[in-house]
Amino acid sequence: MRSAPLTLLFSAILCAIGCSDSGGDGGGQTGGAGTTGGTGGAPGGTGSATGGTGGGAPGGTSSTTGGTGGAPGGTGGGDSSTVGTGGTDAPAARTPAASARTLREAGENANPPILIGAAISGSGLNDNGYKSVAAAEHNYVTAENEMKWDALEPTPGSFSYGSADNIVNWAVQNGMQVKGHTLVWHNQLPGWASSLSGAAAVEQAIRRHIENVMGHFKDRIHTWDVVNEAVITDSDTGVGNPRMRPSVFFNALGERYLDLAFEIAREQDPDAKLYYNDYSIDALNEKADFVYEMVKGMVERGVPIDGVGFQMHIGPPNNEAGGPDVAANLRRFADLGLEVLISEMDINRCSNQVTAEEQLTYYHDIVEACFLMPECVGITFWGINDGRSWLNGWSGALCNGQSSQSLLFDDRYQKKETYNKVMDALLGR
Ligand code: XIL
Repeated sequence: MRSAPLTLLFSAILCAIGCSDSGGDGGGQTGGAGTTGGTGGAPGGTGSATGGTGGGAPGGTSSTTGGTGGAPGGTGGGDSSTVGTGGTDAPAARTPAASARTLREAGENANPPILIGAAISGSGLNDNGYKSVAAAEHNYVTAENEMKWDALEPTPGSFSYGSADNIVNWAVQNGMQVKGHTLVWHNQLPGWASSLSGAAAVEQAIRRHIENVMGHFKDRIHTWDVVNEAVITDSDTGVGNPRMRPSVFFNALGERYLDLAFEIAREQDPDAKLYYNDYSIDALNEKADFVYEMVKGMVERGVPIDGVGFQMHIGPPNNEAGGPDVAANLRRFADLGLEVLISEMDINRCSNQVTAEEQLTYYHDIVEACFLMPECVGITFWGINDGRSWLNGWSGALCNGQSSQSLLFDDRYQKKETYNKVMDALLGR
């Protein structure tokens, strides 16, 4: 857990004594530090009739065994437009920039700022058109494949960082932040890891992988997808029988592999932001409900999780999600005291399940839902231009050789109408 800034501590103490009647009083006390970890803050109070939503204070300063996270804030009363004097220093809303020439500028000049990200591929960086749009329009980078387990640890205990380093170095040269993606995932594992068995062997492999990878990037990467896609449903749309996904990790360790991975990551970097990331949890559906309960349990157990990434792959084969649903869904996760992030957004037009008009509405309304929440720290698009979208060649996406038309730039790196809708949402229009 990060330690609380002074202002936050001060307002948390004030709120513990009693918050104003006209605001939603949120924060509880901040936990202490100690060798066995501080206990988290008390839950926030209930808001008054005009109050907003309050946040619980963060847990204690990190320690060898980790403090327990702060409890979520109380729910505010009727009029959410009134700013409450909550226990966190997060403002109730985000203010847009007056104008902007690029998405990056719109994000940087919003108050508070919001990260504008893209999945970047090593091959894309060989293309000047791609590179210049990527750096001009974004300030946040996720490696599309180069930090997955098969890329970084192709043979047991032997690490290969060249392609990932190229992306990270390019990002740093362009003043962009990087999110590490992804430490523990059932996909894109090397054969040796997929065939591991037994709790001790799997735990040892997870530990070695996380320690090496986070250690290598420690000065350059401060946010990690620690666990990706641990939950499955009968349909890729997030509907039907949500459950823990069978995988080499789950089969050997059960659900506790998540806690274990986050705890190892926290030991490796006490200051890193640690995320759970998943797809088709964007709408208010069964999978999102299941992940909400799973993450809530982690928070309550004091597992060091800082945020949840909502991949936001919209259209076949994944879920569709309208703006109001996304807003309500992000809100409940943020009310657990977590950051939220749109981590892999694209909107697939293949097979016309999402019409051109629906795609524009989704792009605007989903970006707006995140933008309006200060706890929503960024929006990452899964690629730069349609021609390079992963959906084009993935059978589940029903493209059959056609372009998915899923992103903000066309094959010649010209802005599409989707770009304009995203810009409108970032500028409060
Ligand atoms: C995708 C990449 O875009 C493809 O190039 C690759 O072939 C498969 O993986 N969820 C994730 C991402 O977390 O890592 C996936 O990326 C897309 C779905």
